[in-house]
Amino acid sequence: MPDFLRAQALSGGYDGKPAIHHVTLDVEKGSLTALLGANGAGKSTLMKVIAGLLPPLSGRLLFDEREITGWEAPRLVREGIAYVPEGRAIARSLTVKENLLLGGVTRSGGENKAQLDKVLALFPELSERLASPSWQLSGGQQQMMVIGRALMSRPRLLLLDEPSLGLAPLLVKRVFDRLEELRRSGLTILLVEQNYWMTMKVADRAYFMRNGRIVGRQEAADMRAADSLDHILSVYLGKSSEAKELS
Ligand SMILES: Nc1ncnc2c1ncn2[C@@H]1O[C@H](COP(=O)(O)OP(=O)(O)OP(=O)(O)O)[C@@H](O)[C@H]1O
Ligand SMILES: [Mg+2]
Repeated sequence: MPDFLRAQALSGGYDGKPAIHHVTLDVEKGSLTALLGANGAGKSTLMKVIAGLLPPLSGRLLFDEREITGWEAPRLVREGIAYVPEGRAIARSLTVKENLLLGGVTRSGGENKAQLDKVLALFPELSERLASPSWQLSGGQQQMMVIGRALMSRPRLLLLDEPSLGLAPLLVKRVFDRLEELRRSGLTILLVEQNYWMTMKVADRAYFMRNGRIVGRQEAADMRAADSLDHILSVYLGKSSEAKELS
């Protein structure tokens, strides 16, 4: 399979100071690729550079064999890259439907009508809440809404930053079930997570990040093998076996 997204020796950061260094990473078409790492490892910074919210300081980005280095976010959305930031940024006073439609600003009215039906089929719990102000939603519903909002742009690549953050275990499972469904539908996903155990159940492969650098890559099937997850986490992330219990 060809690489769909390719970062080559990518560096990026804040005020000209790099927080990620020479990151090389490939996301295969149709795969769910995970990016794992501890707090402050640089996961969100890498996602922001890929999404065009932070300019790369050096290196290259390629998407579907096109050079996209330095493209800004709106152009990348039109090209098919949608980004769901960490922390469920919602327009609180807007209704659920208005929030969802915000994700479709690059598309026509007709396209949005059809896509809204698809999004609501994936997240039926949002159907009954379309007219509610979004602040009234539970944390889990808000997460579904922000993923749905990103899907409204009809992406070919979905960048998801820690969708399970702060959710109760049952809701975490629900979010991951939907991610699995999206992956089965053929969408390519790059997923940042600290919930290693759940992530390994749905991912095809994972990259490990530490101190702004990629320090390893593993096939999820190998990681799911008995006892290897603990071992791999300790090798790449310096985690002890408690990681499994916590996640
Ligand atoms: N807006 C910012 N301005 C300056 N430095 C930042 C900013 N955001 C992050 N950093 C720094 O960049 C480094 C990487 O942070 P980043 O948010 O990418 O890590 P992360 O892996 O996403 O962590 P977490 O798991 O806590 O979300 C950290 O040293 C952090 O302090
Ligand atoms: Mg982060």
